[in-house]
Formats: sequence, structure tokens, C-alpha cells
Amino acid sequence: MESKDSKTPKDEEKDNEKEKYQIEIIGEQYKEYDFSYKIIVIGNSGVGKSCLSLKSTKGVFEEEFISTIGFEFFSFFLKINNQVIKLQIWDTCGQEVYRSLISNFYRNSSVAILVYAINDRKSFEDIDVWNKQLKNNASPDCKVFLIGNKADLEDERKVNYDEGKKCKENNKFELFMETSAKTGLNAQKVFIDAAKILYEENLKYMSQEEQEAIKGNEQKVYKSISKNIELNNIGEESANNDGCC
Ligand code: GTP
Repeated sequence: MESKDSKTPKDEEKDNEKEKYQIEIIGEQYKEYDFSYKIIVIGNSGVGKSCLSLKSTKGVFEEEFISTIGFEFFSFFLKINNQVIKLQIWDTCGQEVYRSLISNFYRNSSVAILVYAINDRKSFEDIDVWNKQLKNNASPDCKVFLIGNKADLEDERKVNYDEGKKCKENNKFELFMETSAKTGLNAQKVFIDAAKILYEENLKYMSQEEQEAIKGNEQKVYKSISKNIELNNIGEESANNDGCC
């Protein structure tokens, strides 16, 4: 039997993390939610933005390449410590011709998922272009996740893992990971991590009493308190209001 003392500090950190966040992915049957965040998915055409969004939310992989026109909208619901979180995922078109149009969609995004494909050097080099778009159009506190997609295409790799990591560090992005919409590698993790980071950030702005209410699942108390808190980007945005093309 494993002794308690055999745990390394890293193991304990993991255990604490497990305790801290009880995460459950739930379906779209939840009409009500406690927190809602807007997430924008950007990057060159063909890097797999739609596939990644589709795989994470519906578990489906689309082989055929049908380029997005304007944007597509996905929802991802999960529970963190019994709080229902709704992620509004705005999957944008990567084609250059639409680039100026999608600048409208950056507004109120809490997280930007900036995607390149590990087998497409140009898509990695264009990270600077996308980052400039973000700086010009998104709020300064929008967190950027750098994602190297198509990690299953190891034989065709044109961008090393370490280059992605370095790019994240140089640009002070929040997070970097490689994914595969095809195999599912890290596909949901991207969105779960986004929810965790945003949820944690909201907790920072709550008083001890409010946090205790959440821990004890005293929803009534928490909900009445939460009315007085201005939460990050909580307003639901209708696709029609911001639709471009
Ligand atoms: P735009 O809508 O034009 O911006 O493209 P996109 O970035 O949304 O790309 P999309 O998701 O449509 O995928 C483009 C092509 O890449 C499709 O043929 C997908 O099947 C393929 N693809 C996407 N993700 C992966 C992946 O992780 N691995 C592999 N092998 N192929 C992928």
C-alpha cells in the first residue's frame, strides 16, 4: 500500500488542485448558469479552429475542409465546484480577406485562443499579425492561449514544441499547448483551462463570505450576493448583434 509520506510536493499540489476544482462537463440542457465568458478562436485559415471547437463541444471530427464564413458559434457548459459555467465560443474565419471584418468580434472576449498548425510554418509566423490584431481590438486583460494544432501530424511537423513554448514566453501569453482535433489530444483541456483560469480570477474579486457561499454550495446566498458583483463579460451577446458577413 502506498504510504502517505511517499507523495512528492508535486503530487500534493496535484491533490490540492483536484480538491480545489471539481470539474464536470455537462450538456447544453442547463439554461441557467452562474458565470458566462466569451472566448474567441483566431488564426490562419485551415489550422483547424472549427475542428477544435467542434471536437471539444460535440466530440466530432470533420475531415472535409469547409472554410468558415464570418464566424460560427459554439457553447460549452461545465461545472466547477457546482457552479455552472457557460463558455460562448466564437470560431472566426481565418481567411485574409475577412480579417478586418472579424475585428468586431474581439470585443468583450475574456480569452483568445490563437491557433497555428504544427505542420504549417506560415501559420506560426503569422502569430505576430494576429497578436497585433488582438492588441488593437481586444481588451487589454483578454488572456491569450497559444495553441499548436494538428499535433497528430508529427511526420509533417514544421514548428517544434519548444518554438511554441518560446513564442508564448516572449509574448507573455497565458498558456501554450499542442492539440489535435483529430485524436482529441488536449481539445477539451483548452476550454476547461480557460474556464478554470477565468473562474479563479472571478473568485479573487469576491469577499471571503461570497467564496464560502460557493464552497458550501449555498446557492441562494451566493446568487443574491452575486447580483451586486460586476462579473467579467457576463452579458450574453447575441450573434446577430455582432454578425459581420
Ligand atoms: P477557416 O475556417 O478557413 O479559418 O479554417 P479552420 O482553421 O477553421 O480549419 P478547419 O477546422 O476547417 O480545418 C481545416 C482542415 O484541417 C480540415 O480538413 C480538417 O479536417 C483538418 N484538421 C483540423 N484539425 C486537424 C487536426 O488536429 N489534425 C489533422 N490531421 N487535421 C486536422
